[in-house]
Amino acid sequence: MCDDNDAYENKGLSKGLTNYGDRSFSIYLRRSFASSMGYSRQMLDRPIVGIAHSASGFNNCHRHFPEMIDAVKRGVLAAGALPIEFPTISLGEVFLSPTSLKFRNLMSMDVEEMIRAQPMDSVVLLGGCDKTVPAQLMGAASAGRPSIQLVAGPMGTSRHKGERLGACTDCRRFWQRYRAGDVDDQGIDEVEKRLASTSGTCAVMGTASTMASIAEAIGMMPAGSATIPAVDADRLRLAEETGRIAASLIGSGVTPKEIITEQALENGVRILMALGGSTNAIIHLAAIAGRLGLKLDLKKMNEISNNTPVLVDLKPTGTAYMEDLHAAGGIPALMRELRHLLHLDCATITGETIGDRIEAADDWVDRNVIHSIDDPIRENGGLLALFGNIAPRGAIIKRSAADPKLFEKTGRAVVFTSLQDLAARIDDPNLDVTADDFLVLQNAGPLSDSAMPEAGYIPIPAKLARSGVKDMVRISDARMSGTAFGTIILHVAPDTASGGPIGLVRNGDMIAISVKDRSIRLLVSDQELQARRADRIMEERPAMRGYDMLYRDHVLQADEGCDFDFLRQIAD
Ligand code: FES
Repeated sequence: MCDDNDAYENKGLSKGLTNYGDRSFSIYLRRSFASSMGYSRQMLDRPIVGIAHSASGFNNCHRHFPEMIDAVKRGVLAAGALPIEFPTISLGEVFLSPTSLKFRNLMSMDVEEMIRAQPMDSVVLLGGCDKTVPAQLMGAASAGRPSIQLVAGPMGTSRHKGERLGACTDCRRFWQRYRAGDVDDQGIDEVEKRLASTSGTCAVMGTASTMASIAEAIGMMPAGSATIPAVDADRLRLAEETGRIAASLIGSGVTPKEIITEQALENGVRILMALGGSTNAIIHLAAIAGRLGLKLDLKKMNEISNNTPVLVDLKPTGTAYMEDLHAAGGIPALMRELRHLLHLDCATITGETIGDRIEAADDWVDRNVIHSIDDPIRENGGLLALFGNIAPRGAIIKRSAADPKLFEKTGRAVVFTSLQDLAARIDDPNLDVTADDFLVLQNAGPLSDSAMPEAGYIPIPAKLARSGVKDMVRISDARMSGTAFGTIILHVAPDTASGGPIGLVRNGDMIAISVKDRSIRLLVSDQELQARRADRIMEERPAMRGYDMLYRDHVLQADEGCDFDFLRQIAD
């Protein structure tokens, strides 16, 4: 028996033993309990591939995970290892209050600790809905075990009266039309049932699609895997292949740290820009970088944005959907267009380099969806950081989703001091507001009670919407959904609740923005701002317990990815 146990040496089931003070007893007991699940001894002798998944009744995007998990298991078994699935926290975007971002770090802790605490030699990370993929990458990066990402894949589109629908840009578009009185109650009810009609993640270039594309671009997923539709049989074949790759990673020493390097992150930012992807991805990339001792520098991001054209014509900024991007050639076709700008020697989880992947990719491409580098949709990247006295540590604008007529503008601030204030007054017919004003929302940043919700997409005041106003400058310390659009400046750091200067803005102040100069300035003298700062009474926060307390005491600002300070890599 002891000989058998030696053969198990820190692999498979004998990895990370429960401590009873007697190693042989620990192995014997663990094997005995594992046997109770019907495994043969032959199976229990195999190395183990864990499958960390986030299936949940509160996550519509992941409803096909049982089928995908079966396919992963087939691949693992075929490669001679033993697959064992385990659930982690799930973050169903629209089911969480106050916002899914608040729980991303909790999920990352769950993923990290369960990878580390349970006996597995490598891991498949199966997620998809917005915050789940960054949470899994953050957790796996900290756990330091060989890991490969597998995503849910995008939802399919549906039809409403001949019009193509996909979550969730069309959700907002129809809601805006409903608010403006163009769609009636019955119409909005019909649309509601058709917006999200299959499993999978939102059908446009929202946060989930952006993070899936980035996970592929940084090398943590197989080539071509980000865009395969959730319901396509190819996704199951990919899952099987992912299981096989995960088994091959055992003993390789290839952990996320070897794949997610500074150059790989730059490739990720480059793809984000060319996609016109979600602003949320900046927060997630900063958090993933922080787990590996790296930094996402917003000034460097601006440089990348300056010389990266937007090439992909997808909603919310364009016209197509994720299934079209897949049919058009997917991320490999996009990377081929950008190859002269990418770090081609970056390693990937499948063994080849990014350059090898580009060489191997099919050269067919649908130019309606993926434009050539000589015929870009925009000359430069979709996202930019602005700096100035309101946002000393940066603010983000998605210029590809904004109205260029509003890029160089000075406007009068109409301030809402909280989400409650916004809800109470935005549609008040007596609100003193014109289309040339700037709407400013305070107290919606990471340290606020609402934990940085996607409220940066401040609705156009009803009286202006009814008169045909479609866009205004909106400024906040909140986030916005990757599926939203408009001239929206967000992630203002530091935020109001941490004492940031955005909290000093008052009704009637003038604010100047210049996308050309990357600046956002409150046109109030330093002397006056100092006086306001001295008068400012920071709200006493009530006593807290549990996760609320952990969050409040440790969350970082947007420019540091809203991670917890104690989860970032400890400096050597
Ligand atoms: Fe899951 Fe949009 S709700 S990706």
